[in-house]
Amino acid sequence: MELPRPELFDFHGVSMTHYFTDNWENVQNFQARPDDIVVATYPKAGTTWVSYILDLLYFRQTLPERETTIPIYDRVPFLELIIPLEPSGTDKANTLTTSPRIIKTHLPVQFIPKSFWEQNCKIIYCARNAKDNVVSYFHFDRMEKIQPKPGDWSSFLQRFTEGKMVFGSWHEHVCGWWEKKQAYSKIHYMFFEDLVEDTGHELKRLCSFLGLSTSEAEKERIKRDVQFDVMKANPMTNLTDDCTLDFSVSQFLRKGKVGDWKNHFTVAQNEQFDEDYKQKMKNTTLQFRAEL
Ligand code: A3P
Repeated sequence: MELPRPELFDFHGVSMTHYFTDNWENVQNFQARPDDIVVATYPKAGTTWVSYILDLLYFRQTLPERETTIPIYDRVPFLELIIPLEPSGTDKANTLTTSPRIIKTHLPVQFIPKSFWEQNCKIIYCARNAKDNVVSYFHFDRMEKIQPKPGDWSSFLQRFTEGKMVFGSWHEHVCGWWEKKQAYSKIHYMFFEDLVEDTGHELKRLCSFLGLSTSEAEKERIKRDVQFDVMKANPMTNLTDDCTLDFSVSQFLRKGKVGDWKNHFTVAQNEQFDEDYKQKMKNTTLQFRAEL
């Protein structure tokens, strides 16, 4: 069934589409378990990469068959997603048989179901520099048929700076989660750029946060299997069987680089973006790297 491209609307101060709000009551009343692991991100910040790393850390040794039979989006359900004729994200999470459950969300911090806080769940937030994030989001919206049409690059960039993207403003998202981390110790805040630069080091930090004693040999194996080219060749992680994506337009694992924004921003766009960025980020200690 061809699903229509949705309209963006204001939802409690955040731009959203109905594919992420139609199941709102069930999302807000979702019952977390203390050992749930949440992967939270602004869209296109490396969600699938982190989800896959976590899945391998927890389940490769005990459930190896999972690696060749279950696509990553079924192993790690997308909490707020609801599309016709498919189980909702909450249903998928509620019927997961593995423990811990690894659950993906793009919700800004103020929308996270309260049960996750009450159960003191571990949350991994992965953030990506704004310039690469918006480029990746642009190409994704070209191919993702349940996202609003992106329009041309310059109008998309303009909408991004205005926060009129699905899941709202990038600035508010990354800063909101950063502030929450100062008060809630079970958030591990990580960066896409660090993962690109030194995946092994980030794996170690993740294991330490999660209290996992994964062997060095297994960590090496995971590091190898989560490389861009390996994930891109793996039908369980490249999303080629996701029927809402149009692979004739772009790729899900598109470039996986830091600095691809330089191939998209004009000099004028870059100057305007930097000016606006400085204003919006002036009250945070959060720092990003847009090149390595
Ligand atoms: P690009 O569009 O810049 O290539 P998400 O999973 O949040 O939708 O993020 C998708 C982005 O993460 C894409 O960025 C994708 O290529 C990148 N990505 C996914 N797996 C990766 C990996 N193993 N190494 C580098 N980048 C990866």
